[in-house]
Amino acid sequence: SSSATDSKDLRAKLVLLGDSGVGKSCIVLRFVRGQFDPTSKVTVGASFLSQTLALEDSTIVKFEIWDTAGQERYAALAPLYYRGAAAAIVVYDITSPESFSKAQYWVKELQKHGSPGIVMVLVGNKADLHENRSVSSQDAQEYAEKNNMFFIETSAKTADNINQLFEEIAKRLP
Ligand code: GTP
Ligand code: MG
Repeated sequence: SSSATDSKDLRAKLVLLGDSGVGKSCIVLRFVRGQFDPTSKVTVGASFLSQTLALEDSTIVKFEIWDTAGQERYAALAPLYYRGAAAAIVVYDITSPESFSKAQYWVKELQKHGSPGIVMVLVGNKADLHENRSVSSQDAQEYAEKNNMFFIETSAKTADNINQLFEEIAKRLP
């Protein structure tokens, strides 16, 4: 028979969605490799990475991460990546109202076509650029609450809240 710790191990398909340039790939790179790339290239199609995370209660979560391409020409591919996903991270850039609108588009699409019970998280990235903020934390928080999402602001550049983001997702997995 398996031990208590064995039985708690989880595997979770996770997808990142959001406008091109908001920092999806940088968030993943920061989480998986602990690095930041200021010259990050636009993603073509999607990229896959996996990373395990040990929680305080000794649960091990293996995230299978699909980092999608935000450019409009790839929008039709998104269902391939969010299909069957246990969790979705919808990212915008706190300095870009357009990217916040685009995030709302993805939330609606996930509500219509995502897996029932998918854990959805709203992420305001580039929190280090607070001097150029144009999406208020309060507006984003209110939007997230209305849509039953967890909300967090992150910086892939400084690493602020990156681990917390993935820990919060792990806690919410079914
Ligand atoms: P697509 O692959 O086209 O969908 O874009 P993306 O969302 O993956 O963006 P990417 O991670 O490639 O980052 C785009 C640009 O934003 C790069 O120049 C990054 O260096 C920069 N960037 C990403 N995250 C941050 C951050 O937290 N702070 C700052 N200041 N810049 C960031
Ligand atoms: Mg990318």
